Amino acid sequence: MTLTPVLTRYWDDPQSWTMDTYRRHDGYQALRKALAMEPDQVIQTVKDAGLRGRGGAGFPTGMKWSFIPQGAGPDGVTKPHYMVVNADESEPGTCKDIPLMLSSPHALIEGIIIGSYAIRAAHAFIYVRGEVVPVLRRLQAAVAQAYEAGFLGRNILGSGYDLELIVHAGAGAYICGEETALLDSLEGRRGQPRLRPPFPAVAGLYACPTVVNNVESIASVPPIILNGTMWFRSMGTEKSPGFTLYSLSGHVNRPGQYEAPLGVTLRELLGYAGGVRDGHTVKFWTPGGSSTPLFTDEHLDVPLDYEGVAAAGSMLGTKALQIFDDTTCVVRAVLRWTEFYAHESCGKCTPCREGTYWLVQLLERIEQGRGTEADLDKLLDISDTINGKSFCALGDGAASPIFSSLKYFRDEYIAHFEHGGCPFDPAWSTAWA
Ligand code: NAI
Ligand code: SF4
Repeated sequence: MTLTPVLTRYWDDPQSWTMDTYRRHDGYQALRKALAMEPDQVIQTVKDAGLRGRGGAGFPTGMKWSFIPQGAGPDGVTKPHYMVVNADESEPGTCKDIPLMLSSPHALIEGIIIGSYAIRAAHAFIYVRGEVVPVLRRLQAAVAQAYEAGFLGRNILGSGYDLELIVHAGAGAYICGEETALLDSLEGRRGQPRLRPPFPAVAGLYACPTVVNNVESIASVPPIILNGTMWFRSMGTEKSPGFTLYSLSGHVNRPGQYEAPLGVTLRELLGYAGGVRDGHTVKFWTPGGSSTPLFTDEHLDVPLDYEGVAAAGSMLGTKALQIFDDTTCVVRAVLRWTEFYAHESCGKCTPCREGTYWLVQLLERIEQGRGTEADLDKLLDISDTINGKSFCALGDGAASPIFSSLKYFRDEYIAHFEHGGCPFDPAWSTAWA
């Protein structure tokens, strides 16, 4: 498969983030086209294109928009609608939305205006990680430019449609990437997940119908409106159509964003990324960030679309491909991820709050060579108690690398306590050999 640069096609232009560059590349043409359509036609176009949410779950974007109830509710009250962009990217390995917002913030803004028009929202929000100050500043500058150019505010391009767009800086909690925790945080409260249903489409921000979409999903809307559904469907697979950003990191020669049709394989992507470091081979990798079950070198030819990855036992997630070569200790990698989940657990539910703490204790002991075979059973037992029994997906994500690493690398766990230390520690390398 060849690469399909759509979102990334002008990222190498000087000052790619400016309004001028964006407009030189047909920027804001899709908005004119969308505003000439009925809002429902816009939703239908996105539905027909088959665009699936790029934030991890792959939920159909057009369908999500169509869930927004129109008109008065059973109580006779017509509630406002909101569009919220989840720009709180922070899954370990996930690094596509930040470069997208830095390189082409106007692609996101144009998508937001089109999406807000489609769901008939008068207010939209970008919830961005506050620590990533350059992104925050770039978004704020781009939004100001869009107001100045008449793409935001009152009577956009003379259409009679009004939209206010607010950039909101989060305070750096991973859990605020969970859509309902994000909404709580946006409302000014401590970000903790809410019970779903009701889904945000019914009761979201300020208990009003709200669409929460990922940055890449929304930025993919303008090219669909401009070029049509058949163009989008000419890429990817029938159930996972289109192009997407694959983020390659770790032990590859040229890490970065590779935009390709859904269904490309890691073997093909490695061809573009210059392969793994010289003299080394792929040992394990994540198809979609640290929450998705690990793959090994046996999975290099798995088609990286929602169905292909699921059939092979993992999830496409955020398409964050973290590649680890044969010099990496899998136990250490899993320990680092688990420390992250334990630190970021919001504490609302017991299985995740207590379980992630105990997973770290056990993994530390094993990694230091002080574990026993019984500890492996305990790891699985605790992971079982977290998985599917936690309040939100963070718990499942924490359990996932444990299950998959034990499935493929149980011998490596055992080697730690057989050798009384980490076989990848230089001091122990002779023992491991
Ligand atoms: P989900 O499958 O529960 O929901 C996906 C979306 O569809 C949500 O917006 C939800 O509101 C909507 N939805 C689902 N069923 C609905 C219904 N019946 N009616 C109306 N709307 C409905 O997935 P979730 O929990 O939102 O996201 C989990 C994913 O997030 C994971 O797959 C993971 O890969 C990803 N993730 C992404 C991160 C990032 O940094 N981008 C960080 C951590 C996880
Ligand atoms: Fe909070 Fe973890 Fe429970 Fe999610 S699973 S609600 S992050 S404690």
